[in-house]
Amino acid sequence: MKIAQAGHAELQVRDLEASKRFFTETMGLFVTEEDSTSVYLRAWQDWEHHTLVLTKGDTSGLVHLGWRVEDPESLDQFARRFEEMGLTYTWVEAGTEWGQGRALRFSSVSGVPMELYWEIEKYRASDPELVSALPSFPQKYPTKGMAPRRFDHFNVMANDVAREQAWLTQVMGIKHRYYVEGADGVRRGSWLSISNLSHDIAVMRNHSGSGARLHHIGYYVDSPDELLRAATMAVEHGGKIEWGPGKHGTSGATFLYFFEPSGHRIEVWTGGMLIFAPDWEPIRWSQETEVVGFDMWGSKAPETYLRYGTEIVKATGAGAIA
Ligand SMILES: [Fe+2]
Repeated sequence: MKIAQAGHAELQVRDLEASKRFFTETMGLFVTEEDSTSVYLRAWQDWEHHTLVLTKGDTSGLVHLGWRVEDPESLDQFARRFEEMGLTYTWVEAGTEWGQGRALRFSSVSGVPMELYWEIEKYRASDPELVSALPSFPQKYPTKGMAPRRFDHFNVMANDVAREQAWLTQVMGIKHRYYVEGADGVRRGSWLSISNLSHDIAVMRNHSGSGARLHHIGYYVDSPDELLRAATMAVEHGGKIEWGPGKHGTSGATFLYFFEPSGHRIEVWTGGMLIFAPDWEPIRWSQETEVVGFDMWGSKAPETYLRYGTEIVKATGAGAIA
């Protein structure tokens, strides 16, 4: 029973048309399928049917974070574990989310809506305009927008970071990689992964105290050059830069944060360490070193970065948690 990878996020957006335009034209993601209420998107080298779902709503918020499990049996095994724990979960029928088989939905201890799935349609371009000459590529290299290579990670906010991290590690098996801790022993942030990435999910302290929030989702570009180009595109084509370009001291990755038109924070980033050791011990960053941890080149995180996240959408219908 194991989680294999961070798969996708479903974000509710208050302006579907503007967000769709931004994610396709400016970010350079591709639509796999859509209807009047939802748009399914992926980056050019994402292998699954979608890594982002935009769903129309009155407000902007997080609907769920989707994780793929490593084999079909893991779904029922996780359900049994949740029953033993007394954790509420629901099954979502196959096809409720396009391209995806049945899935298990539940919330983390801080209230972050999660989903586990196994079956997912694999993407392979059929449009002659998109078919790559290279068998290794699900579609050809694009010429439009920021065009990140792939989806990378989730980042959420919680009032109690240590509690959320312990839950993600103990219940979901996601390994703790590094963290920032104040002299008072209060955890400011934790970064965790199930893959070799420095993190598949991060949990940061919600300094406003308003509980679980989506901080951002991250996509990966191939180089700092592409990241600088993305920054200019964000300014000129409907995004609003919040912070960066800068370089995180913790992971060593170069970053850029911006807001899409419905108010979700998005990151594109590149580089950074990978982790291969099976006996990796979480690395402690003290609050005193937090500034270089955030940006080793010296810029300070804006106040919005510490306090603003998009709310958690209370699900209704097939995927609702009781
Ligand atoms: Fe999903």
